[in-house]
Amino acid sequence: MRMVDLIEKKRLGREHTKEEIGFIVNGFAAGDVPDYQMSAWMMAVCFMGMSERETSALTMAMKDSGDTVDLSDLPGVKVDKHSTGGVGDTTTLVVGPLVAACGGTVAKMSGRGLGHTGGTLDKLESVPGVKTSVSIDRFKEIVKETGVCVIGQSEGLVPADQKMYALRDVTSTVQSIPLIASSVMSKKLAAGTDAIVLDVKTGSGAFMQTLAEARLLARTMVKIGALLNKKTVAIITDMNQPLGLSVGNGLEVKEAVELLSGKIEESYPLYEVCMLLASHMLMVSGLAPTEAYARERLKHALASGEGLRRLKCMIEALGGDTAYIDAPELLCQVERKLSVTLEGEGYISAMDAERIGIAAQMLGAGREKKTDPIDHAVGLVMHKRMGNRVEKGEPVATFYVNGAERLDEALAMFKSAFRLSAVKPPHAPMVYDVITN
Ligand code: URA
Ligand code: CA
Repeated sequence: MRMVDLIEKKRLGREHTKEEIGFIVNGFAAGDVPDYQMSAWMMAVCFMGMSERETSALTMAMKDSGDTVDLSDLPGVKVDKHSTGGVGDTTTLVVGPLVAACGGTVAKMSGRGLGHTGGTLDKLESVPGVKTSVSIDRFKEIVKETGVCVIGQSEGLVPADQKMYALRDVTSTVQSIPLIASSVMSKKLAAGTDAIVLDVKTGSGAFMQTLAEARLLARTMVKIGALLNKKTVAIITDMNQPLGLSVGNGLEVKEAVELLSGKIEESYPLYEVCMLLASHMLMVSGLAPTEAYARERLKHALASGEGLRRLKCMIEALGGDTAYIDAPELLCQVERKLSVTLEGEGYISAMDAERIGIAAQMLGAGREKKTDPIDHAVGLVMHKRMGNRVEKGEPVATFYVNGAERLDEALAMFKSAFRLSAVKPPHAPMVYDVITN
């Protein structure tokens, strides 16, 4: 087999065999297929797409490119939750402990934030002492003891994805449904979970900017899950504004703690998405026959404080100081807080979540490159949501700032995210669809 022939085959829109896909993935992982050929092939995939069979074969080949984790000695159904990347999305820190409090087993490997999106590992590490690189044996022990553990993905897992993702990032080949689906699902499968609940984002802050694309990505991943015998459900949620009000690592932990402390109203979008995700996690785990029953149990876990207790147990097991969970404002101590206003007045008719995420990144909450350092305390807190009225001079957000290096740039980026209009825009849904097999 020659790589150049396979690139041509895909360029002409033909279907690869399983063997051909294995040749491409293994060749690239081993260094036999050079970056330029892999880039050309991935670009052809972006334009010509892949069949379901090809996407499944790609997922399996990627999964088999490295180590896999065996969780079969842990009791019960191991359930994982994955988001395709959002802004102000602190759901993992809420749903993991809540599901554990209801008897679920949440063993999750998570990633770091890159670009405008945050990552759960960075949020966890905003708690002093937390170490997210623990051995698989210790990971399993923590899951056994507390029902939930979130750690960093081990080095040896899905090396093909690590290499492919780095190349996609710089060749404009991220935005492809088969490439995203195989990237996400290969990691989930390698991490050894039995059931997966996916949160597929759509809107200005998401990879999939239209609902139709998000649906197709969700269906593709659910089908791959089913073909490979993992119970998979996908929820399609809105990312036309940050999910929670906080964007920044310590600030998002604080918001998660507030939710787990019962301090956040049910009408609040972050609450609703957490409840929906957690309900489906309980259902795919066989712990709740209906969504109504799942919600009842979850509400009880919130009200009793058991969810919060599980979060603290996990933080403690990872070496973190739980005094910061008791007083989460300690996580966001900054040199100064700055009220941000917009020019003009009116109803917020558009809010570009990606720009808001980039503004937080410019304040130091995120990275441009993988190796950039981050400041866990900085970020921003929104005071308004889509459709809200803004009076002249009324603050729409508070910036949490250390140093002023990129403050002006961050302010300009943030302000450019908004559009104000004279008429109130129609109410947009938070959850668009639930895709089951
Ligand atoms: N998240 C992933 O893990 N992979 C992608 O390709 C896109 C989002
Ligand atoms: Ca995330």
